[in-house]
Amino acid sequence: MNERYKILFEPVKIGPVTAKNRFYQVPHAMGSGNDMPKTRAAQRGIKAEGGWGVINTGYCSIHPSSDDRPLPFSRIWSDADIPAHELMVKAVHEHDALAGIELFHGGAYTPNRHSRLTSLSPSGIQQRPPELDTMQITSPKVMDSQDIKNLIQWHVDATKRALKAGFDVIYCYAGMGFLPYHFLHPDFNKRTDGYGGSLKNRARLISEIISSMKETVDGKAAIAVRISTDELLGFKSDNAESEAHELFELIGELPDLWDLKLSEWAKECPSGRFAESGHMRPYNSFAKELTSKPVVGVGWFTSPDVMVKQISDGVLDFVGAARASIADPFLPNKILEGREDEIRECIGCNICASCYNGGIPVRCTQNPTMGEEWRRGWHPEKPKTKSTDSNILVIGGGPAGLETATTLSKRGYRVTIAEKEDRLGGRINHESILPGMSSYQRVVDYRYNQISQSELVETFLGNELKKEDVLDLGFDHVVTATGSKWNPSLLNEKLTPFNIGKMPNVLTPDDIFNGAETKDEVLIYDFDYYYMGGLLAEHLTNQGKKVSIISPFPSVSPWSFMSNEVNEIALRLHEKNIKTNKEEIIQIIEKDHVVTKNLVSHQTRETNYETLLIVGNRVPQRGLFDELISEENLSDHGIKSINNIGDSNAPGAVVHAIYSGHLYANTFDEGAEESDLKFEYATIQ
Ligand SMILES: Cc1cc2nc3c(=O)[nH]c(=O)nc-3n(C[C@H](O)[C@H](O)[C@H](O)COP(=O)(O)O)c2cc1C
Ligand code: SF4
Repeated sequence: MNERYKILFEPVKIGPVTAKNRFYQVPHAMGSGNDMPKTRAAQRGIKAEGGWGVINTGYCSIHPSSDDRPLPFSRIWSDADIPAHELMVKAVHEHDALAGIELFHGGAYTPNRHSRLTSLSPSGIQQRPPELDTMQITSPKVMDSQDIKNLIQWHVDATKRALKAGFDVIYCYAGMGFLPYHFLHPDFNKRTDGYGGSLKNRARLISEIISSMKETVDGKAAIAVRISTDELLGFKSDNAESEAHELFELIGELPDLWDLKLSEWAKECPSGRFAESGHMRPYNSFAKELTSKPVVGVGWFTSPDVMVKQISDGVLDFVGAARASIADPFLPNKILEGREDEIRECIGCNICASCYNGGIPVRCTQNPTMGEEWRRGWHPEKPKTKSTDSNILVIGGGPAGLETATTLSKRGYRVTIAEKEDRLGGRINHESILPGMSSYQRVVDYRYNQISQSELVETFLGNELKKEDVLDLGFDHVVTATGSKWNPSLLNEKLTPFNIGKMPNVLTPDDIFNGAETKDEVLIYDFDYYYMGGLLAEHLTNQGKKVSIISPFPSVSPWSFMSNEVNEIALRLHEKNIKTNKEEIIQIIEKDHVVTKNLVSHQTRETNYETLLIVGNRVPQRGLFDELISEENLSDHGIKSINNIGDSNAPGAVVHAIYSGHLYANTFDEGAEESDLKFEYATIQ
């Protein structure tokens, strides 16, 4: 191990238990909930195997009055829920790591759509998220003294169950908009009894919860508190520098560990496009001066140097990570073994967050095995060894081709990559030079690093293969990963695209990537759901162009809500003075203007342009694949199989290309059908 990382491997005491190192997987949901206990246990177990010292569950509801459906949340409502958690604890303990559980009551935040119990709150004040999926049309009730006693008791009951399940660290979750946090928050707590008013009173509930939990565990497990600090740091206090300072002066010694985060999901889990590694330091750095208990903090830590800095500067005791542990469950062991150049660094795309937002098991762009550990038996570091001596030709060195070659070579297969450009990377080479996207280059860097160390991989650049070349080369298996192209197209009123072909001064993103010049005034017609329209608008504005956007949707890049980016994108467009006209389609393109129709008012108008850039749909580049599969006598050429993967099969995000490459590489020799997949079903009660 590199000497400078030694500090990361020091053991740290958390009350009655000791973590073997400072790598701390903070609570994060896996989108598997209690309905998929084996999926969940396998995901957490792999991280423990990879060296994380502490592994936590995601938020785990303690009572049906905190019911977060339709999201697949975890729960510990009764003893019947204990066995599902035991599976995870066992998987974590097998590798000498500590297992933690984040006990959660959502209060006004949880809509209780399934349980139909009334939501609880300190003062009946509703949380008002602007997004449809989190909006509630009911108000929470004001908790009376019996409700407060019940809440404390539910924490005690859940703590007893957590102990039975074998957890070493048990959390009280007092962050974000959840119930204990709302008691601390002066905008949500307007009570006039002993639980409202001064901060000391507002902190009474959380103090009572922690004290009761400590009494319950009686030294058999540590009690941790996860709390949001950004807003409290902004609230003035008569007794200290801020309410956050005052809170720590009041109860800083009460729990065995403090875990700090921000109060808004999109801010504390921002995409890499809008955040720097270590970005939470300003919100974390006050705490250690005010408590002797260990402090955990997050902040998109991906590199060991940034981790070491925050520990050695005395900001944190533990390096808290969600995404770094998803992208590379083996990050700690790689550092321990001096293999930090092999870390699969998180790119900050927030596809993992989008999975949680979408209610499905968490997946990852960089780590295609994430979420498939139990279902497919995949391991992030150890794919199955080869079953034949076949050699494989991979045509295309973009994300899908690179992942295929990396995984096939790890399995022991001989692989040849033929890439028509003079460098590997495909779409990543274009996209990663756009503003804020440089971390996407890590998709290529990790895989390039792996294959360049392998004797089994040969790469031919500047090599555009034709059908005859492929037939003559004598490979056993051929896989095409030839990418996709942006299509010059418009939408009809049902928002279905139709092709318009090439037109003067009308470009697609591929033209920009290939160096086409735009005029000074660029009109972008963006009907892609994801990031490209806003990104190119920012890119061209940075080059001094005057850019405006027309989109058929109510927001630009609307799917980016799923990756926690949509508001940041809107802000960026606003800051760059990029005018956006929403809910409009372009119906006619003339030489210097377009005719648009508003989808709400149905009014039409004309907008002038010098260059029109259409960011619409992509079409697969599958010409070579189609030619190859139409060849009748493939076996005469020794070819046993031909497959088409990634964007040339079905254009998608980078996560889909990587997954497609991994799926091919890990299964092409199995003969298994997609429908052979295992699924977990909840036990019939
Ligand atoms: C997929 C996903 C699910 C999360 N679920 C939870 C959760 O259940 N409880 C929680 O306290 N934080 C949750 N978080 C927030 C993380 O714990 C963490 O605070 C945040 O992602 C910032 O850390 P990072 O930059 O290391 O990812 C989640 C984050 C992600 C990416
Ligand atoms: S999905 Fe993206 S942000 Fe999430 S862990 Fe993987 S690489 Fe990082």
